[in-house]
Amino acid sequence: MVDPKDIDFYSLGFNFIETKTMFMANHKNGKWDDGELMPFGSFEISPASCVLNYGQGIFEGMKALKAKNGEITLFRPEKNAKRFNLGAKRMLLPEYDVDKFISAIKSVVKENKDYIPPYDSGGALYIRPILFGYGPVLGVHSADEFKLIIFTVPVGPYFPEGFKGINLEISKEYIRAAPGGTGSAKTICNYAGTMLPAKESKLRGFSQILYLDAVHNEYIEEVGAANFFAMINGKLATPRKSGTILEGITRESVLEIASKKLGLEVEERNISYKELYEETCTEMFCSGTAAVITPIASISLEGKSRIFNNREPGEVATKIYELLTGIQRLDIEDDFGWITKV
Ligand SMILES: Cc1ncc(COP(=O)(O)O)c(C=O)c1O
Repeated sequence: MVDPKDIDFYSLGFNFIETKTMFMANHKNGKWDDGELMPFGSFEISPASCVLNYGQGIFEGMKALKAKNGEITLFRPEKNAKRFNLGAKRMLLPEYDVDKFISAIKSVVKENKDYIPPYDSGGALYIRPILFGYGPVLGVHSADEFKLIIFTVPVGPYFPEGFKGINLEISKEYIRAAPGGTGSAKTICNYAGTMLPAKESKLRGFSQILYLDAVHNEYIEEVGAANFFAMINGKLATPRKSGTILEGITRESVLEIASKKLGLEVEERNISYKELYEETCTEMFCSGTAAVITPIASISLEGKSRIFNNREPGEVATKIYELLTGIQRLDIEDDFGWITKV
């Protein structure tokens, strides 16, 4: 554990830092135990464990934020709990009760409250629930013992650029998910395959890859760990829920903010990467718990680049960023009922 006094909350990136307490629950003989808080630390695992051999695991990503008045907030945690269970179903993992999930999240956050970055730092306490097949297997089938762990890490911005435009590379070489696969589940398997493409793209000077669909190799899916939005013909467009994208909670919230607060017409549809090179596409950004709202300054495919808005954050991205983070930090009235206080 790192002493919170030794953390410079004003210069955090998105890197692992050990905090004080984690939550662990075990599923054995067909049922969950009560789970308990314990010091953050290692545990034993069999080399034949299902998660180590066959990747039977899922995770979530959430944030606890400090408001100006010192209150601690969570953003739509019931959505994470429900998505966790959808992922569990897909990966043949046992579901976890939504209310118990939220109460475990709250207790871990409370225990680690000294690690929540101050309001004016812009940072957050990232919350990472994981659920995996713990028991040993040899053949490809589910484990019969499972673990749920929730730990936390103080974080700053996901992209070191912060609220500045990032440069994305459209990939025609790699895909993230295919129809019938696990793209819409937050399973660990979806992320392992994106590490090499992300590393190669970084070496070419890009922040991340913009993935295309597996069938046509043409329609935008999502950014490595964030959903995609573009202003096209004056409407806010985002890739439709195809079963191959992760259905982001921030994505859903952006759509609501855009239509209800900004009066924008929103569309969930197939977006060809070719549309992004047209004059009718005026602005792009991506959304996620970690990425929050990150403007996209440029896109590039096989050397053909387009720079947006002189690399400055677009008007819509800026307004949505202000509204979303304002609601999350209690600076703006939460008309949507999205905030849960810890
Ligand atoms: C692949 C992927 N897409 C999109 C998102 C955004 O989802 P959310 O807004 O729920 O954080 C994430 C997670 O942050 C992700 O890992």
